[in-house]
Amino acid sequence: MAKKLKLAIIGCGGMSHGHLDGYIKIKQGESNKFEFAAMCDPVVERAQAFANEAGKVQDFIPKVYTDVGTMLKNEDLDAADICSRHCDHHINAIDCLNKGVNIMTEKPFGVTIKASKAIIEAAKKNGKICATAENIRRGPSQRTAYWMFNESKLIGDPRMFFSQMAQWRGLEPGGWHWRLDLMMGGGGMVMDSGAHFCDTIRYLFGDVDTVYARVEQLEQRKTNKNGKIIKDWQEDTWVATINFKNGVIGTWTVTWSAPGQGFSHVFYYGTEGSLQDHDVFHGPWGNAELTLKDGTKKPFEEIIKEYMATLSDDEKNRLFPLGFTNGVHIECYDFLDAIQNGREPEVTGEVGMRAKAICESIYESAYCGQAVKYDDVLSGKINAYQSQIDNFWGLW
Ligand SMILES: NC(=O)c1ccc[n+]([C@@H]2O[C@H](COP(=O)([O-])OP(=O)(O)OC[C@H]3O[C@@H](n4cnc5c(N)ncnc54)[C@H](O)[C@@H]3O)[C@@H](O)[C@H]2O)c1
Repeated sequence: MAKKLKLAIIGCGGMSHGHLDGYIKIKQGESNKFEFAAMCDPVVERAQAFANEAGKVQDFIPKVYTDVGTMLKNEDLDAADICSRHCDHHINAIDCLNKGVNIMTEKPFGVTIKASKAIIEAAKKNGKICATAENIRRGPSQRTAYWMFNESKLIGDPRMFFSQMAQWRGLEPGGWHWRLDLMMGGGGMVMDSGAHFCDTIRYLFGDVDTVYARVEQLEQRKTNKNGKIIKDWQEDTWVATINFKNGVIGTWTVTWSAPGQGFSHVFYYGTEGSLQDHDVFHGPWGNAELTLKDGTKKPFEEIIKEYMATLSDDEKNRLFPLGFTNGVHIECYDFLDAIQNGREPEVTGEVGMRAKAICESIYESAYCGQAVKYDDVLSGKINAYQSQIDNFWGLW
């Protein structure tokens, strides 16, 4: 029987609740796969609340820690699921990997490309797994989109996409959060929720060739940090043209500085028709719609059923383990299962970094005011925008 893995969750904040829920469901489905060994968050109440929840599905309450170093000294872990701030991912991950602990980090994989590479190197050096917690591509509708574009070719060969959203967001300073600090977040929504979209387009269409983008904060946005009004660093607008190596071209435009009428749509075109979705970060979803060249329309839900019917039982178990359809639950299962079976996780650190390199290409292009080669951003040859963040975190 495979070894029961000892798991810790690092960062017990917002998103981490989804991970805890996923592991609890795994525990209920395969109780011997792992045990919750420890919970870690500088805010002890958060870690304690997680430990108490975990204690309900096993016969002991996991230990609680407020820093990763102390946890690693005291625990003999197999796996750590890292859901901390972007700037902590590489620090937490490298500490774990150097102690022989396999890791999965939330998206975006590292705060910069250098940070991402440092995690991957530490994993290689220690012979351990580094996985990216990218949940979106694992859902039934996104897996169906992959099948449609790359295998069944229902709308022919992919040609282009237009992913666009315009909204107005008020200027009243909201409460401060680490995401609003450039050094902690590494950037705004281009690389936060945008990490999902960039992973999805790369999943669907492969690696990118060139990117040209403008990234702006069109309104002076501010935030209230402990009663003091300070700058909010996040962009509120970007327009990016993304050329793929396979010839697909797409535009991704998002703004919340557009007063008046707003809209949100995503159209993907193939040589034989289109897929219309609405979510510029997380789709395509089941409520999308296909339109073929002759005008025939088909709800995407029907295509999802067709795709699911093509899967053998083995494929279903691999892609939707324990019958899960929630991408977070699937990624948690995949992480544990990859460790147990000595295989690669579905979304490796390298895959997470390559999605991130699209986000960073957008920032780098905007920063230098010219088109950039994706490969140059991925290799680190172009890093003018990121160097301020790398320097801050001592990533040389
Ligand atoms: N997959 C998704 O759909 C999705 C959605 C939201 C957030 N996320 C990602 O999840 C991660 C966390 O985001 P969030 O929204 O949960 O943020 P959050 O602020 O709600 O939670 C972060 C937690 O990390 C803790 N923390 C801070 N410093 C730490 C350290 N040094 N070591 C350990 N823990 C530390 C904080 O106390 C907090 O509890 C980010 O990478 C974010 O992009 C993913």
